Amino acid sequence: MEKREKFSSRLGFILISAGCAVGLGNVWRFPYITGKYGGAAFVLIYLVFLVILGMPIMAMEFAVGRASQKSAARSFHVLEPKGSFWHLEGYAAMAGNYLLMMFYTTVGGWMLAYVFKMISGTFTGLSPEEVGGVFSGMLGEPGPMTFWMIVTVILSFGICSLGLRNGVERITKIMMAFLFLILVILCVRSVTLEGAAAGLSFYLVPDFGKVAENGAGEVIFAAMGQAFFTLSLGIGAMAIFGSYISKDRTLMGESLNICALDTLIALMAGLVIFPACFAFGVDPGEGPGLVFVTLPNIFNQMAGGQLWGTLFFIFMSFAALSTVIAVFENIISFAIDLWGWSRKKAVLVNLILILVLSMPCVLGFNLWSGFAPLGAGSTIQDLEDFIVSNNLLPLGSLVYLLFCTSRYGWGWKNFIAEADAGEGIRFPKWARFYVSYILPLIVLFIFVMGYWQKFAG
Ligand code: ALA
Repeated sequence: MEKREKFSSRLGFILISAGCAVGLGNVWRFPYITGKYGGAAFVLIYLVFLVILGMPIMAMEFAVGRASQKSAARSFHVLEPKGSFWHLEGYAAMAGNYLLMMFYTTVGGWMLAYVFKMISGTFTGLSPEEVGGVFSGMLGEPGPMTFWMIVTVILSFGICSLGLRNGVERITKIMMAFLFLILVILCVRSVTLEGAAAGLSFYLVPDFGKVAENGAGEVIFAAMGQAFFTLSLGIGAMAIFGSYISKDRTLMGESLNICALDTLIALMAGLVIFPACFAFGVDPGEGPGLVFVTLPNIFNQMAGGQLWGTLFFIFMSFAALSTVIAVFENIISFAIDLWGWSRKKAVLVNLILILVLSMPCVLGFNLWSGFAPLGAGSTIQDLEDFIVSNNLLPLGSLVYLLFCTSRYGWGWKNFIAEADAGEGIRFPKWARFYVSYILPLIVLFIFVMGYWQKFAG
């Protein structure tokens, strides 16, 4: 078996983990969900979840990865008490990584397609209806959508095939640096637009009346789902990066850095989108089409819009690709950990597998659009997103929580010794009761409530 590679630097670890976290969740899902649930009040609830739930669970994932030196495919086998069944979570985690990619590669492809549409001036001079037509036209044609999905998959596996340091770490670092730079430029442009203030207040001044309008339970459930999704928690997507680092730093400190970066980027993405929406009088509650329909319309009305639009979609593409690369790295490591495959073989087999598995999502928008798994108008993508975001992520997180705190699992002592090894912020001792008894109940309660509302409410 090949020796396990390590990251070349701490910065590499933080940026790759942040790259895994920063993705469509920040730049696509966060803005449209925030728009839908009324802005700042939702953002506030979401931030609370990041702190009370995101950070401790991320530290737990890293601890499991670092102590086991394995991906989610084998980490529970290594750490669990003999005769127990925690390793079953490994299978759910693997399924979660694949399922996430089964729809992510399609949306990543949309982002790349839009970079080219912007550069080539596809939207120039189109009416708002025609701009909307470009998006629905794209969804209606399986050919081009498959093409862009394939580009996303090949590009990302290509980078992974170069190795952890040479490929994943080197390229992600560069992408994250550019992503941040472009984001800062776009923020400045957006908040200085005439009429941006209304957007800023929608986004930054909480109005809890809007939460009540949408139903507090539904808003809280959405905020929790978003917190899990944006941090990729519960499917071991983060745990793997713990297995590539040394014991120099405490894991709570590293989780804090990564959560802060992820949040910063999500909040800044909102600062780009909402002021622009209000400046040009468009509804931010548009839903998933927000980024693909509303924004190109805005760029059309903006001076230099083609340039801003191109930069915007390059930014979106980098965010998507950094996550795809990170999750592919996970997927590759499953095969390496399970069967001792070489990286090359793992890349090749998974490349084909992911291409095939991504097709239902692509076809769900056109040839198979008659299949509406979650009710009228829903798509295969909605189903995949629902299985991952509302089920595997929260339930998987629950397993990590119990595994790290229960004496029938890996246990508190082992967890805390691993999490606190090194320099930096330690896992607070007083939090033991909270993470052992209260947090699992919070996750479970909100999970059940979400189902209740979706299917019975
Ligand atoms: N954490 C990833 C994202 O936010 C899945 O897109």
